[in-house]
Amino acid sequence: MKVTASELKYVFPKGFWWGSASSATQMEGSAQADGKGPNIWDYWHETETNRFFNGIGPDQAPQFYSRYKEDIKLLKDTGHNSFRFSISWSRLFPEGRGEINEKAVHFYNEVINTLLAKRIEPFVNLYHFDMPLSLQHEGGWESRSVVEAYVDYATACFTLFGDRVQKWFTHNEPIVPAECGYLYGHHYPAVVDFKKAVQVAFHSVLASAKAIERYHSLNFTGQIGIILNVTPSYPRSQHPADLEAAEKADLLFNRSFLDPSVKGTFPAKLVSMLREENFLPSYEPDDLMIIRENTVDILGINYYQPRRVKAKEHLPNRNAPFMPEFYFDYYDMPGKKMNPYRGWEIYEKGIYDILKNLQENYGNIECFISENGIGVENEERFKNSEGIIEDDYRISFYKEHLKWVHQAIQEGANVKGYHVWTFMDNWSWLNAYKNRYGLVSIDLEQNYKRTIKKSGYWFKELATNNGF
Ligand code: BG6
Repeated sequence: MKVTASELKYVFPKGFWWGSASSATQMEGSAQADGKGPNIWDYWHETETNRFFNGIGPDQAPQFYSRYKEDIKLLKDTGHNSFRFSISWSRLFPEGRGEINEKAVHFYNEVINTLLAKRIEPFVNLYHFDMPLSLQHEGGWESRSVVEAYVDYATACFTLFGDRVQKWFTHNEPIVPAECGYLYGHHYPAVVDFKKAVQVAFHSVLASAKAIERYHSLNFTGQIGIILNVTPSYPRSQHPADLEAAEKADLLFNRSFLDPSVKGTFPAKLVSMLREENFLPSYEPDDLMIIRENTVDILGINYYQPRRVKAKEHLPNRNAPFMPEFYFDYYDMPGKKMNPYRGWEIYEKGIYDILKNLQENYGNIECFISENGIGVENEERFKNSEGIIEDDYRISFYKEHLKWVHQAIQEGANVKGYHVWTFMDNWSWLNAYKNRYGLVSIDLEQNYKRTIKKSGYWFKELATNNGF
């Protein structure tokens, strides 16, 4: 229902981007179809199925590959004026480099053209956790040759689709492959090695800068940026030891990517922490200059939860593999609000704190909320007699976060849009279909039948009214 601005409490700036984010491996399905090469997820699912919730793998993602037309119509029905998806590197280049897969070119052209025909702006991300298997065999992000292959892949995407795509992103949450793949065992190759994690992170930053350099050198008129999961670090108390713990967590998890992406430099304190432990990555003479000179035009912020920390209570075991938690302990704050299904704290003001930090310490760079959402288990129980899931908790979750985004805008934050995670219930890396995040539900029993949830109708109203 369209209402007048005076009837709304929270009105957003004209042209605000309302939409959602998705990723290729989580949405497309058809993991072996039409010449797609395997990526690390296809391989890991095949070789260690037990690691996946109910044994479900990426092949059973919601089949966006074959149903994109129906899905783009649903994007419109849920009020999207913009939509982020990622290109599957191993669909475009089955071997990661070399011969291009024309069927993939056709597919992404169709997706982009169909979105544009419906006046939905495509936001295209190049890397969302899905390394082509053949490049992982070369060492993945540990390897310099993979950085070069990525720049070639990015260049191919710019050349093929850059006449229509105006918003590009080099990575989604690049810290995740480093921490989950090289420290915590959640992503392939599930190595535990801090030095390798640092190398992976450094190469991701370098790859991003090189892709930005390439994009700008091709004289496109659009913008290129990166999507980061900036998780504010809150200390337990104002005790100097707690403050130091929070600062170190912030340096490791946030500023490691935020500073080089926006300012072109790594924080000196982070460098000295890494040097002290002999963890500095190897790099070539020009790398730091490339990073310095090729910062982002725009920043996407994914926000789900805060990080609460305190000073370490016990000395770490020096014989155990080095972990970020050598610098701090997690703080389990009494009374915190939780999403019990995902085990993540809900702290709405965190989104405001991030935006204020960007405003005050990062030149108020143009940004948008690129992911925010809540994953809930067994949503079927909320189905009404018409088969629509009444997910009022999701609507409240969005509203409570949007109030803080609105507040930041009133105070001058340069935030241009709000994308939720996610458009449609999709396959998750660790949880498959356990927790559902979508504005649209998927019925796995009925051939992935799509049904708009109550939140999807609400989102349409939100976008139509440009506020609530
Ligand atoms: C984001 C990722 O961090 O969180 C998505 O960009 C992911 O890929 C989302 O799906 C939700 O996390 P999860 O683990 O519950 O799927």
